[in-house]
Amino acid sequence: MQNLSGKTAFITGGASGIGLAMADAFAERGMRLVLADVNAAALDKAAARFRGRGTDVLTMTLDVTDRPALAEAARKVEAFGKLHVVCANAGIPPSGAKVAETEPEKWDRIIGINLTGVYNTVHYMLPLLRAHGEGGHVVITSSMAGAVAASPIGDYVVAKYGAVGFGEVMAWELKPENIGVSILLPGTVATNLNAREDSALSAGMDAGAVGRRVVEAMEKDELYIFTHADYRPLVQARCDAVMAAFGTSAQPDFREPDQVVAMMCQNAYPPKR
Ligand SMILES: NC(=O)c1ccc[n+]([C@@H]2O[C@H](COP(=O)([O-])OP(=O)(O)OC[C@H]3O[C@@H](n4cnc5c(N)ncnc54)[C@H](O)[C@@H]3O)[C@@H](O)[C@H]2O)c1
Repeated sequence: MQNLSGKTAFITGGASGIGLAMADAFAERGMRLVLADVNAAALDKAAARFRGRGTDVLTMTLDVTDRPALAEAARKVEAFGKLHVVCANAGIPPSGAKVAETEPEKWDRIIGINLTGVYNTVHYMLPLLRAHGEGGHVVITSSMAGAVAASPIGDYVVAKYGAVGFGEVMAWELKPENIGVSILLPGTVATNLNAREDSALSAGMDAGAVGRRVVEAMEKDELYIFTHADYRPLVQARCDAVMAAFGTSAQPDFREPDQVVAMMCQNAYPPKR
């Protein structure tokens, strides 16, 4: 999407870290902001900072697991102005357990915020992107954990792989409507998510650099946004293992009906139209 100035972006988890950094990068381009977050105090602080810089900003305290709150948020955004960008970014860290041993309540919470929260956000905001027919863009914050299965962050991996699938399907579905999709897959970023003195993860990339990459990717309509080159060999190894398994285990003498293959090929990402 081009010509961002004057357009409005809705960002969940917009009061801190990567969400706030995206907001900063959007404000640099002259965009208007709607920041949604569970942290009311952080929202107030962010809003004061943006207003001080002359950016038009609306904040709303909401939890992305709360569907009625998102429906109400959509009504408020509609009154604020035409919406062009939706960033489903809010997320929480992994529980740290081995995947099958994750406590049920923690499993539900991580999947509920990091995956279903993405669906909830896009489900309620997409009609506003469609309403004006001018096109738009959706940014899904996944993680390097959405492309590499690591332990002991399995609950987080499952949610972030799911977010990648959601974004890939949506990229295909929304292409004819001129609504782009970008999936952000960062490695470690220095935000509150990792801010523990005992953790090597409290270092990490500056969130500002990630926010600026997101804007560039939106402008170039890039589907995958990778920020950390270090992980390339891990992603390559996974792709190689998948392709090697095709070579050894796919049955050459079984033929799927042609129309089934054609349907999958026509409807799968990357788009062929
Ligand atoms: N920091 C990293 O290293 C890293 C790496 C890869 C992906 N990510 C992802 O980036 C996204 C943003 O995380 P961050 O690193 O900026 O962390 P952060 O903690 O600084 O920001 C997350 C924001 O989301 C808000 N939030 C949490 N639960 C919410 C909910 N239920 N509803 C609404 N808002 C909620 C928090 O209040 C916070 O302001 C997350 O999806 C995270 O999984 C982070």
